[in-house]
Amino acid sequence: MTIISARMAVRSCKHLCARGVFSHYLPSMYAASPPLSRQISMDAQTLTARLKESGLLRSQALLGGKWSDAYDGKTIKVHNPATGEVITEVPCMGSNETKDAISSAYDAFKSWSKQTAAARSRHLRKWYDLLIAHREELGQLITLEQGKPFQEAMGEVTYGANFIEFFAEEAKRVYGDIIPSPLADRRLFVLKQPVGVVGAITPWNFPLAMITRKVGPALACGCTVVIKPSEFTPLTALAAAELALQAGIPPGAVNVVMGNSSDIGDTLLASPEVRKITFTGSTAVGKKLMAGASATVKKVSLELGGNAPCIVFDDADVDVAVKGALGAKFRNSGQTCVCANRIIVQEGIYEKFANAFSKAVQNLQVGNGFTEGVTQGPLINEAALHKVESFVQDALSKGAKVLLGGKIHSLGRTFYEPTVLGDVKSEMLISREEVFGPVAPLLRFRTEDEAIHIANDTNAGLAAYIFTNNVQRSWRVTEALEYGLVGVNEGIISTEVAPFGGVKQSGLGREGSKYGIDEYLEMKYVCLGNMMGN
Ligand code: SIN
Repeated sequence: MTIISARMAVRSCKHLCARGVFSHYLPSMYAASPPLSRQISMDAQTLTARLKESGLLRSQALLGGKWSDAYDGKTIKVHNPATGEVITEVPCMGSNETKDAISSAYDAFKSWSKQTAAARSRHLRKWYDLLIAHREELGQLITLEQGKPFQEAMGEVTYGANFIEFFAEEAKRVYGDIIPSPLADRRLFVLKQPVGVVGAITPWNFPLAMITRKVGPALACGCTVVIKPSEFTPLTALAAAELALQAGIPPGAVNVVMGNSSDIGDTLLASPEVRKITFTGSTAVGKKLMAGASATVKKVSLELGGNAPCIVFDDADVDVAVKGALGAKFRNSGQTCVCANRIIVQEGIYEKFANAFSKAVQNLQVGNGFTEGVTQGPLINEAALHKVESFVQDALSKGAKVLLGGKIHSLGRTFYEPTVLGDVKSEMLISREEVFGPVAPLLRFRTEDEAIHIANDTNAGLAAYIFTNNVQRSWRVTEALEYGLVGVNEGIISTEVAPFGGVKQSGLGREGSKYGIDEYLEMKYVCLGNMMGN
């Protein structure tokens, strides 16, 4: 396997990062990458051995600050989605280990929550520094276990670390309130206090950033956490936890368990000591967690599936729309909750856009994420590929046309050709549900009202994108869209400084930004009486 030299990729990532906060995780498909003049040949085994030597490839879970196997010795294999090879095995844990992780987090909460905000902030800052110092190894782990191109993986490390930096700063700004009292001898206050132990259940598509987006604000305000990463991508989580320990975050404040999802989930839900569940993943699982959390009346934050419309109006700048739609659709090979799932194009610009967009998609290079020039990695597994195939078949059987791609890539297994479908209709499966793969369906519309109707005709409400040069229209349509996030003439909008989350069945609560920390806080009203001292 020819892979990009880590050092050279760092350089190209710096080149991207120099473009500002929104570019940290741009897929390099439309970034002008500098030439990679030095390459090294390294097979996956050598890379794995090096990562082990660095201490960042861990094969045990973290309970109360100690690395631990499953109590019954069971393991699960972690695969490289590009090759199918086993990278390593990790513990297959269940209820008993989860109970111990919760107890550790509960004990650690007593002291962590009592530390000053300044002290917690310093620990988080140190963790951020270590994440950045080990960006290369973390990027390699992400590409190994998740498959995204190495340069994009490095972008995720920056994106993920930024949540820790942001909440290190925000730790110092958890203000309460003084309320003017209606009675002369009383004084009324609001205190903000950490909720307690948090169960954080995270997905495979962003093995680092979806953890830091939850754990950053939780630790900042004094909560402790039990993380359950996806069993497909536990290695990045374990490496991040190792760096948290190195940063001096006390044992038990961050715990990581993995294995049997339903046993771990049920144990987190049943425990009265766990006061909050935060989850990123499918809407179906989110609904189960929400129902399960009701038994102990826990706080819940859910970041669930989307069905993002990307509306291109006749008055759009075609180049801007193509670039934006490309980023919104093909980031992480279409495997994000905010990926454009339906590209809805006005009839006057449809042909022009479809041609320019298909041409741009044709330039995307598919392959192993470590190979130079690759911008589209594999899908996470063969089941994901079969889902994409079945959605495309459904669309074609109902009258959609293949403008580009439309089949499994010659690399086979988990690789699908970047695909553009034309003449897609709202009733097709691909318009109703998230395809979570590199397929861009184009739908046609006539009027602004029709576009808004098509866009809102779904239970999902996470991200939406619009492309127009008409300022009044951009406001009108933004306000009419039933979505938590709207990109106007922009396809990559996620950043640690802005609130991320959906409406309708796309979730509850917001992550990131100054609002994200509220999800981990309780408000306590305090009334002081007899204040005039008579
Ligand atoms: C997700 O796919 O759930 C997260 C995407 C993002 O943070 O931009």
